[in-house]
Amino acid sequence: MKLKIAVLAGDGIGPEVTNEATSILRAVAEFGGHDFSFVPLLIGGVAITEAGTPLPTATLDAALECDAVLLGAVGDNKFNSLTPDKRPEAGLLQIRQALGGFANLRPSIAYKSLAASSPLRPEVTEGVDMLFVRELLGGLYFGAPREWDREKEVAINTMRYTKAEVVRVARIAFELASKRRKKVTSVDKANVLEVSQLWRAAVSEVAADYPDVTLEHQLVDSMAMHIMNTPRNFDVVLTENLFGDILSDEAGVITGSLGMLPSATIGGAVNLYEPVHGSAPDIAGQGKANPLGAILTAAMILRHSAGLEQDAAAIETAVVKVLDAGYRTSDIARGQTVGQTPVTTHEMGRLV
Ligand code: NAI
Ligand code: MG
Repeated sequence: MKLKIAVLAGDGIGPEVTNEATSILRAVAEFGGHDFSFVPLLIGGVAITEAGTPLPTATLDAALECDAVLLGAVGDNKFNSLTPDKRPEAGLLQIRQALGGFANLRPSIAYKSLAASSPLRPEVTEGVDMLFVRELLGGLYFGAPREWDREKEVAINTMRYTKAEVVRVARIAFELASKRRKKVTSVDKANVLEVSQLWRAAVSEVAADYPDVTLEHQLVDSMAMHIMNTPRNFDVVLTENLFGDILSDEAGVITGSLGMLPSATIGGAVNLYEPVHGSAPDIAGQGKANPLGAILTAAMILRHSAGLEQDAAAIETAVVKVLDAGYRTSDIARGQTVGQTPVTTHEMGRLV
């Protein structure tokens, strides 16, 4: 299998965690006889410093030539005085839009040996393995009109979806569910919102093509409660943009640390893979960052851009084994076996 991966390490802990992720991918290539190549490219604060802009044209052009994009994190306090459109974070928004992925995938998994890192009781979280599929290009974040009329003291955002936008993301949710535990929970607010009524109808129509997958509808407010009370009941959770933004962060609590969460954005020209966390300037350069979110993100590249399910699963199993053996970076060290000290970013990567 040949795979060309653009590596946009970015700022802060971005380079530290992506280094470990690419090391794992190199190991997978070696063991599996694959040909993976890596193309380092600038984004964020480092791109501003070296090329004068947070997303240089050269980066975007080269990324579009690759099979997948792996992004570390962007953001550097030294650019805080710049306007939002000039800051490192602008590069992230620009590349997300340019790549055009409309389905954001975020797994939420409870690791048994990390139960102490989650504020939820182990009886509640045990065995949780859910996957959020969040629509990323529609809804309130993009709908027009949008405006804050300061004079009239009124502001407006528009929640807008076409049936086609719902159908394409729903198909992805059902495809993924058919390879998992065969259940899709679609989240909406159909008792109040017209958009949600269209959403529900379109999702139900797609469901007819997947007779072996069960579809259930949940209202977003009660869903927020079910995620905390009975997360084991869910497999694939399908949401529009805003609801998914909120609920996937809420479900992050099940895993316990921001440093453990991977993500993928698929459906566009090239899929974009990034750990959920930011550049963490408070711990950057100290070898304290947890690389597991980035490493699990690498596994998602193999699953969703290369069809290498077994290799992806091998990385995920290795992560579980390392955690079960008691190794911890400091963000997940709560409840660590007495006598052990947290391992560094690089050591954690090496262990995996
Ligand atoms: P953050 O995710 O960088 O950090 C939040 C907290 O979690 C910090 O205490 C940090 O030390 C900790 N943390 C994050 N990742 C960790 C890891 N892998 N291992 C151990 N601990 C970890 O979010 P924050 O502090 O709000 O933002 C910092 C900068 O990152 C800002 O410039 C922000 O704009 C940017 N940012 C970038 C994102 C991206 O590139 N996708 C996402 C979120 C924020
Ligand atoms: Mg968010």
